[in-house]
Amino acid sequence: MKILSVFGTRPEAIKMAPVVAMLQQTPGIASRVCSTGQHRSMLDSVLSTFDIRPDDDLDVMRADQSLTDVFARVMTGLDRILADWKPDYVLVQGDTATSTAAGMAAFFRRVAVGHVEAGLRTGNVLSPWPEEANRRVTAVVADRHYAPTSRARAALLQEGYPADRILVTGNTGIDALLRMSEIVQRPGEIRARLDERFGWIDPNARLVLVTGHRRESFGEGFLNICKALGELARKPGIQVVYPVHLNPNVRGPVFEHLGDNPGIRLIEPLDYPDFVYLMTRAALILTDSGGVQEEAPVLRKPVLVMRDTSERAEAIDAGVARLVGTDPRTIVANVTRLFDDASAYATMASGASPFGDGHASARIVADLVNQSETAPAIRPNLRVSREFAAASPRIQRIA
Ligand code: UD1
Ligand code: UDP
Repeated sequence: MKILSVFGTRPEAIKMAPVVAMLQQTPGIASRVCSTGQHRSMLDSVLSTFDIRPDDDLDVMRADQSLTDVFARVMTGLDRILADWKPDYVLVQGDTATSTAAGMAAFFRRVAVGHVEAGLRTGNVLSPWPEEANRRVTAVVADRHYAPTSRARAALLQEGYPADRILVTGNTGIDALLRMSEIVQRPGEIRARLDERFGWIDPNARLVLVTGHRRESFGEGFLNICKALGELARKPGIQVVYPVHLNPNVRGPVFEHLGDNPGIRLIEPLDYPDFVYLMTRAALILTDSGGVQEEAPVLRKPVLVMRDTSERAEAIDAGVARLVGTDPRTIVANVTRLFDDASAYATMASGASPFGDGHASARIVADLVNQSETAPAIRPNLRVSREFAAASPRIQRIA
């Protein structure tokens, strides 16, 4: 059975790493990895962390690229690989330009598509933009829908996708996170090196960890986020740390408005182990990221979501995430309230984790195997699923 995994951005690579590890260790599966290179350094960092060496690299990234450019380059580049290698399945993840363009390219070649992280919906195609439209389009061309939660499954059923093509798996990002958080928290050499690298963290302050990059917030939204962070940094006992995404539409306003603020530490995007470590040290996380909304609850960190909508409503319903939009007063008021009210903080740090149990990749690979005519001969290696991250030499060399 020939399976081509296609991804190109940081979050796709993190969430596909455990799937790729399982595929590569499963007898009877020929696994091939195509990186579109939609991201460059942010992707290469993840590939290096998980020791993934793509068989193909479409190298599509350009500075300040347009959505159409990425889409067109991914489709053209992938088409050649599909024609030559003729996979049985193409696996795509999430809702990026890469995943939808790859899904479409596969569909045009009549290759079956497996959609990892299917069924996330806000109901508003402009928020997040363009991701809500991307994941809906991918669903139309997908043959197997790997829904992380039962809510995602229900959304797909409601849209008319057949029940026997939808599988609730959990999110593969939780597979990666559980392993990585164990590695970075275990006492020992790795932990000691991370403690040293982040020795500048003020142990007497509450660390507010920030990420932000959504396109629908470019312009006014980001100016408002900067205002909120500036105000938070003026409060005693708070340290704001912000690894700034490489998109120039984010870096421009963030460095212009916060670059000189002594209370805010603007840093480069972090390698995944470092970011996971920083999440474990945070008192609270302010983000518009999809993946971070899923990860923070697992680490018992309250997460305030700087967006007007979320497709991760499970975390909001569980009380471990809250939508705060981009209005500076609302953001500051919510942070302050959590720091002033121990019981509100404890509720949001309850540890409820609605997005998975760490075995999503095993379920996905098992399902793919079941689609094969030679299914009985192929069995996913569950041990690999549990140990893939720990075995990575790069992670052992961390720091
Ligand atoms: C993309 C995804 C978004 C995802 C995000 C994760 C789409 C439409 N958007 O948004 O869904 O949440 O990735 O981070 O697919 N850049 C670099 N180096 C890098 C990465 C980016 O310089 O390693 C800069 C480049 O100038 C690039 C720009 O960022 O043109 C935008 O990258 P792009 O992938 O188009 O959009 P993101 O905002 O990263
Ligand atoms: N992340 C990282 N380094 C950083 C910031 C985030 O490794 O400096 C990880 C984070 O743990 C999560 C993923 O990147 O797994 C989220 O990526 P991003 O926010 O760029 O995209 P989204 O999830 O919103 O699509």
